[in-house]
Amino acid sequence: MDWKIKKAAGGLKGELTVPPDKSISHRAVMFAAISGGSCRVRNFLFSEDCMRTLEAFRAMGVNIEKEDDSVIIHGRGLKGLKEPPGELYLGNSGTTMRIISGILAGQSFSTRLTGDESLSKRPMLRIKDPLLEMGADIDTFNGNFPPVSIRGRKGPLKAIDYKTSVASAQVKSCILAAGLYADGQTSITEPFQSRDHTERMLEYFSADIEREGLTTRIKGLKELAPKDIRVPGDISSAAYFIVGGSIVKGSDLVIKNAGLNSTRRGLITVLERMGADIELLDVRGDVEPAGDIRVRSSDLKGTVVEAEEIPLLIDEVPVLMIAAVMAEGRTEIKGISELKVKESDRIKSMRDNFLKLDVDIHEEGNSLVIYGGVKVFSPASLKSFGDHRIAMSMAVAALVSGGDCSVCDTECVDTSYPGFLADLEKVMG
Ligand code: S3P
Repeated sequence: MDWKIKKAAGGLKGELTVPPDKSISHRAVMFAAISGGSCRVRNFLFSEDCMRTLEAFRAMGVNIEKEDDSVIIHGRGLKGLKEPPGELYLGNSGTTMRIISGILAGQSFSTRLTGDESLSKRPMLRIKDPLLEMGADIDTFNGNFPPVSIRGRKGPLKAIDYKTSVASAQVKSCILAAGLYADGQTSITEPFQSRDHTERMLEYFSADIEREGLTTRIKGLKELAPKDIRVPGDISSAAYFIVGGSIVKGSDLVIKNAGLNSTRRGLITVLERMGADIELLDVRGDVEPAGDIRVRSSDLKGTVVEAEEIPLLIDEVPVLMIAAVMAEGRTEIKGISELKVKESDRIKSMRDNFLKLDVDIHEEGNSLVIYGGVKVFSPASLKSFGDHRIAMSMAVAALVSGGDCSVCDTECVDTSYPGFLADLEKVMG
């Protein structure tokens, strides 16, 4: 499916509720499924990726009911999952594959995890290494790639102290999930803070977990207590409207009930530094804070994004690049290597699209340098590269083009934001 996007003549206006958070929806299913009872997850994200997580646990004997915007998950306890009838196909979802591997490493049955073409190219050594150290029997294709095969084991895993070289919430969450099945206390230390939804949820489910700076410790073999959860809106989905509202002149937009966890808010911090007009209203919530975001258009200026800020806005870098191109002056985004191993090589995907829009961006070592000051993009036919975040970022670029643009192959957007185009058209008036 291709999108035709008109330039936004009169600004983005009105109110919008973005879909529920993808990261939190995944985790809610996973940890509820291995908790000791039933949990209602309100405002669950029924997107392709989250359905893959849901179906994987159904295949392992977990009873999951759908009721309006909720799923009710009847947890089977830490050791209650059943051997699935076949391999678990996880589609495009790296989050599912990496975190679920931690849970599966502690089971008595064997599993094999597969994915689509993009997921099949994503690195898995980063989870394989720590799981092997914990005594798991895990194998990957060519050492690093899916399919991931995990053989069942009898006893508990071994607790370890692990330092990751990349700040990845998926890796951290995988180790914490495996830590639930380890005899003793497992610790994980990351180089920079990455999103902490797993830590918050496990704490809420009464796991024996503690945090100290960049280290999280968890004691294993304790059952999780089931609790109801309400998932806030996804700030990564709100990002397209935050940037759109900032760069399209005449915009005044309120995004309702977006997650505002400090480990996910990097885009707002960076845009504010660039001169964006963003107001956070009615911030509430305990396990996961949420609030409304008001954004009005403004003149942006370039900035430097430090490597340690990257995990706080990792999925927002493509759309931040659009803001940087429109901003006056130079923007440098440091520590970009992780962007190259996402659903696509996001640096390459964005560069290829920018070339079509007559904009040049370049790499200097592990940094991306963008000279901004573009007023309008030349209309073009843009590509998603099968990556939802690229498709939606290019739709934002199209809003400030000199005419109509098309974005090709946009089915991938269903992984995180089914209904994105309708929402965009709604605020375009
Ligand atoms: C996610 C963490 C991030 C992010 C991904 C979702 C998560 O990946 O890019 O879309 O839910 O934990 P990394 O932690 O591997 O950077």
